[in-house]
Amino acid sequence: MIAKTDAAGGPSLLPEVLAFSSSLEQDRALLREDLVGSMAHLAMLSRQGIVPAEAARAIHEGLVGLWRDAEAGEFVPAGEEDVHMAVEAELTRRLGDVAGFLHTGRSRNDQVALDLRLFVRERCADVLEGLSELLALVAARAEADRAVLLPAYTHRQRAQPVSAGYWWAAYGAMFARDVEALRFALGQVDASPLGVGAIAGTSLPTDRRIPQELLGFSRLTLNGLDTVGDRDFALDFVYSASRFLLHASRLAADVVDFASSEFGFLVLDDAIACGSSLMPQKKNPDVFELVRGRSGQGLGALVQLFTTLKGLPGGYNRDLQEDRAPLLGTAANVLAVLGALRVAIPRVRFDPVRCRAALDRDHTQATDVAEALVRAGVPFRSAYRRVGTVVRKAQGAGLGLMQAAELAREVDPELAVALESVGDVAASVAGKRSAGSTGPAEVDRQIAALRQVASEARTAAASVPRLAQLFLALSGASR
Ligand code: ARG
Repeated sequence: MIAKTDAAGGPSLLPEVLAFSSSLEQDRALLREDLVGSMAHLAMLSRQGIVPAEAARAIHEGLVGLWRDAEAGEFVPAGEEDVHMAVEAELTRRLGDVAGFLHTGRSRNDQVALDLRLFVRERCADVLEGLSELLALVAARAEADRAVLLPAYTHRQRAQPVSAGYWWAAYGAMFARDVEALRFALGQVDASPLGVGAIAGTSLPTDRRIPQELLGFSRLTLNGLDTVGDRDFALDFVYSASRFLLHASRLAADVVDFASSEFGFLVLDDAIACGSSLMPQKKNPDVFELVRGRSGQGLGALVQLFTTLKGLPGGYNRDLQEDRAPLLGTAANVLAVLGALRVAIPRVRFDPVRCRAALDRDHTQATDVAEALVRAGVPFRSAYRRVGTVVRKAQGAGLGLMQAAELAREVDPELAVALESVGDVAASVAGKRSAGSTGPAEVDRQIAALRQVASEARTAAASVPRLAQLFLALSGASR
């Protein structure tokens, strides 16, 4: 045990204490981040003349060897409190005492902050890539389904006719905001914490800018005491990811409803519909139910992380180790949901006849009639009341809105004219012209905007240095 026995010369840790305090199960996933970070730190120590060139060369080769062995599954960190110690212990086994130069001028406190930032930065890129694909998919569905008409709902009551393109674009607008949030998170994580040491910095002639540049960070963190206790970048990532999961859960909720026989608007392809072990007729929307359910994990992780951080005194506290489960869990969760949506979205199909029937049997064009009266100079509130009176009569008589003109002719002739002037639902949708509406030109504009965000998300993701690239660059760098 390096941290306790070897370094401090104290008695070894009780096995129960080691088991309780170890983060190795979780941070083993950060091994590649840890190795790349160490390579950059070592390059700095060597360039600054803090570590003799020969020692630096040996340690560098050792780190490269660990990366290769890890990739081949031949090095699995074990037997220590965390991944950082396990790497140092293995290096020491392989190289002897010379490995001891590596930890000069840094602490596990800035090291874990670095590993987490490298992890979050790359996951931001993965999620942005996934969102870019999702947006392209949603835009394509919006375009393909723009002629399908269905009711839009407020209070889960039929409200007004819209196109299915508009419905898809609504979810696209949510996912476009998620891209913005992820890009914000990417900006927040983009600062190198390495080299602040345990909390107060170092008297050695280190240069934090060297690993910052080698690792592709655009700036340094400002203050070491803050840096070692800062997990805001993790909060920003988990928040953005949970908010995406929330949006995905709302899309899923619509799909689950729309695929029920009560609505009948959507049909699920057999390849994504699960069966029942008992009822032979069932075609269940389990994928969408699980997408909806997974958002709970996201929110739980966000609350868990906030709660861990709340009230911590300044500097490093071991509580911070509890960031691993919500952070790593959320990254896996959000990528799994993106993957599920990617295969499921192309496999749901609107039933235009059932959608249309829901409009014909209802009074979703009542607002259009009121607007026809407004166009004839009637104040909106009186138009609203007059249409309301006739709608209630028609509903009582079991008549649709379009058959209500007869009813209106005697009591309100002007309204009868307005009723006749309102065309069918297609005309209603086509007549919407305000920005952000369901009008076809507006939906086209929304689709174009979604495609623009998809391309920006792809570019943002591509600008993030990947660990594999960093490893290649660092392993080729001369010592
Ligand atoms: N195992 C800790 C973690 O994963 C890193 C070590 C923190 N430093 C310390 N002095 N115990 O966050």
